[in-house]
Amino acid sequence: MSELTEYCTAEQYKGKATMEKITSLAKRRGFVYQSSEIYGGQNGAWDYGPLGVELKNRIAGAWWKEMTRLHDNIVGLDAAILMHPRTWEASGHVENFTDPLVDCKKCKSRFRADQIPQENLTAKKCPDCGGELTDTRKFNLMFKTHIGPAEDTASIIYLRPETAQGIYVNYKNIIQSNRMKIPFGIAQIGKAFRNEIVTKNFIFRTCEFEQMEMQYFVKPGTDEEWFAEWRKQRWAYYEKLGIKMDHLRWHQHGPDELAHYAKDAYDIEYLFPMGWRELEGVHNRTDYDLGRHTQFSGKDLQYIDQDNNNERYIPYIIETSAGLTRNLLMIFCDAYDEEQVAEKGNEDDWRTVLRFHPDLAPVTVAILPLMKKDGLAELAQDIRTELKEDYATDYDQSGAIGRRYRRQDEAGTPFCVTVDYQSKEDGTVTLRFRDSMEQIRVPRAELSARIRQEIKTYKRIK
Ligand code: GAP
Repeated sequence: MSELTEYCTAEQYKGKATMEKITSLAKRRGFVYQSSEIYGGQNGAWDYGPLGVELKNRIAGAWWKEMTRLHDNIVGLDAAILMHPRTWEASGHVENFTDPLVDCKKCKSRFRADQIPQENLTAKKCPDCGGELTDTRKFNLMFKTHIGPAEDTASIIYLRPETAQGIYVNYKNIIQSNRMKIPFGIAQIGKAFRNEIVTKNFIFRTCEFEQMEMQYFVKPGTDEEWFAEWRKQRWAYYEKLGIKMDHLRWHQHGPDELAHYAKDAYDIEYLFPMGWRELEGVHNRTDYDLGRHTQFSGKDLQYIDQDNNNERYIPYIIETSAGLTRNLLMIFCDAYDEEQVAEKGNEDDWRTVLRFHPDLAPVTVAILPLMKKDGLAELAQDIRTELKEDYATDYDQSGAIGRRYRRQDEAGTPFCVTVDYQSKEDGTVTLRFRDSMEQIRVPRAELSARIRQEIKTYKRIK
């Protein structure tokens, strides 16, 4: 089904975000391209272009600040993607990290058995062509490869399917090197890989993606309290980023949805153009992971509480696990707006605008000389050089000024600075706001401070 008919009727199409529009804008403006496009594209993999990599870095930066700098007891880690294969036996991924898979014998389509109607499954009837379906079989999602020259069972190695395990195997190192005391957390951002059967909806579900995970180590018995606390904090985080809160909701995992390691789990779901989908998970992983690593490694992974008569225990873990690339898609969809602008009385005049929070926008300030001549371009370049130290800037001197504003709106640039003839005379410039399209005159000397102030007090108006 096309995204258009799934989400809105043709009459409602204008003004709405659809996955088709999001994907097309993302490519056109250099946010995201299909991987290996010149060879016909690689399923499940995407490349982040100049604006995309800036946006991704800023989302990662905002999460990192929130989860490490704003907490005295959370530290960072960057563990290797390749880990000892025993890690994945201990974690349960070799045995349990599977999806149920069925194939259509006629049209060769492949489905996740849990994502097609039960009646099709029972009747073994393909939902696409009506052909016969195969029996359901388990399919492990981990990418398997070999390390070293020999391709035998002894050289098998996996691409990590979650970043979490790199944290668990380092938890004792970090306690020792950083004198951490429970409760404490370890945060990590990095790539993860899953051999997903169904990859659709652009960058929503991909085979190569990035996660932002934080593992919080707590005393058994206090886990439910911390679980509730982290749910609260993760919700507040999205509010702080200015996300439309009526597009977010909680979903508690039922017994049949819980991962093999979880005692309790809640997803934060977002209302994407294709419907409500998981954005981030908060999980109570109990002592499952550290218990299993103790068993498989033979190392003692108990915490010794020196402030409490050297009491020993395996900590419980509360995990907050968000997709970075999925966050990017959410932030893109959330920011996307088409607005009718009654400029020059033209009713059919629409602008596409990405209303990114200024802390996340790939470009913060664009500097635009009204004309290239009469020294305006030089003056604008000079202002750009000054602002570069503090902000991500862009410079654009080609085309009519209205068109240049629209280009910046589409890239989500919150501020435009226009340099005109008056700037040469009195040293003021025009500061234009993306959301309201309001323009004010500001002395050049006050520009940087004014922008800083506007970012600090930013409130989304639509
Ligand atoms: N460590 C726990 C864990 O990995 P998960 O629910 O499987 O839990 C956590 O994944 C988050 O990672 C998801 O909420 C989602 O944002 C992101 N994610 C998972 N699989 C993904 C995929 N194939 N493509 C993009 N993001 C994915």
